[in-house]
Amino acid sequence: MVKAKKFIFAARFDGLPKVTDFRLEEETLPELKDGEFLAEAIYLSVDPYMRPYSERIPIGCTMIGGQIAKIIESKNADYPKNAIVYGSFGWRTHTIYNPTSPEAQLVKAYVLPSFGKLPESLGLGHLGMPGNTAYFGFLEICEPKEGEVVVVSGAAGAVGSLVGQIAKIKGCKVVGIAGSDDKCAWLTRELGFDHAINYKTESIAEVLAKYAPDGVDCYFDNVGGGISSIVINQMREFGRISVCGSISSYNTPVADWPKVPILQPAFVFKQLTMKGFVVTRFWDKWFDGIAQLKKWTEEGKLQYRETITNGFENMPQALIDMLQGQNFGKAIVKV
Ligand SMILES: NC(=O)c1ccc[n+]([C@@H]2O[C@H](COP(=O)([O-])OP(=O)(O)OC[C@H]3O[C@@H](n4cnc5c(N)ncnc54)[C@H](OP(=O)(O)O)[C@@H]3O)[C@@H](O)[C@H]2O)c1
Repeated sequence: MVKAKKFIFAARFDGLPKVTDFRLEEETLPELKDGEFLAEAIYLSVDPYMRPYSERIPIGCTMIGGQIAKIIESKNADYPKNAIVYGSFGWRTHTIYNPTSPEAQLVKAYVLPSFGKLPESLGLGHLGMPGNTAYFGFLEICEPKEGEVVVVSGAAGAVGSLVGQIAKIKGCKVVGIAGSDDKCAWLTRELGFDHAINYKTESIAEVLAKYAPDGVDCYFDNVGGGISSIVINQMREFGRISVCGSISSYNTPVADWPKVPILQPAFVFKQLTMKGFVVTRFWDKWFDGIAQLKKWTEEGKLQYRETITNGFENMPQALIDMLQGQNFGKAIVKV
């Protein structure tokens, strides 16, 4: 009999999540039925979306999230024993999963493609959902051209750090916006960004006007709010904005969101385009994105960084730390 540990979403978040909003429980799993497999978590992901999506899940359910897991028992030939899978199994150490069940269809578990010498943990970041968010969300929505100026906010995170590097591969000039001098130094010294702005200590409007005197062609927006309003007002004619997320608002109740600035003149006179997206829209070419990101990484054109928290019991703290900007690159938990 296998015992699974799982985190229950025990209390609705009020502002920044607290460790006490989660409850650790144990359950004994039943025998496997035909078509099912049993997976043991190796790495789990903590992601910003968990904060806004938590509004839609009932109190008392297992906390949502993706993981990289090893199949330790299987009654499904498509998911053989010892295969490594990505699955949206939630915050749990062991999972019995039936890939044909109706609830499994939204984000179906998949056996990881070969990552060669790269670590399997990248299936949660660089070679997984955040990787494809950067790859498709930037290239297909911003449609960058060589020589253009690209700005990315949330630049030192899982998605943002990749967007800036992909923009460099495409021959763009890249300005990253991040929350510390150490993060800014990492972006410019190691990842090849042309410039980085610390939004906590610098005037974005002034510094960006210096780095992009003729305006910004593409803005990849991970944060929303005041940072984005400043960038949007400094765009060039026919600029494109890809709206990926708005993490600056995630811990704030809607009633307390900042009053909306008037952005319409920038949109009209600069003839801007802004599009939001959810990465699952690119599901039909998911593995093409991963293959390209893997190739660029093996060629040394893309670098990755992971911030790893050890211990399944530290999942809540890892989520809280990531929401507060403790991570460089992808935040993950090693069981
Ligand atoms: N549309 C989609 O399908 C999709 C898919 C994946 C992710 N996303 C979105 O993409 C964004 C980045 O996700 P990620 O997984 O790559 O996370 P991440 O950037 O690795 O981690 C979150 C980062 O957000 C920054 N942050 C926190 N509070 C902030 C604030 N008030 N203002 C500005 N920055 C703040 C922190 O960095 P600093 O130290 O720089 O503040 C923190 O490290 C999120 O908005 C997420 O919801 C969207």
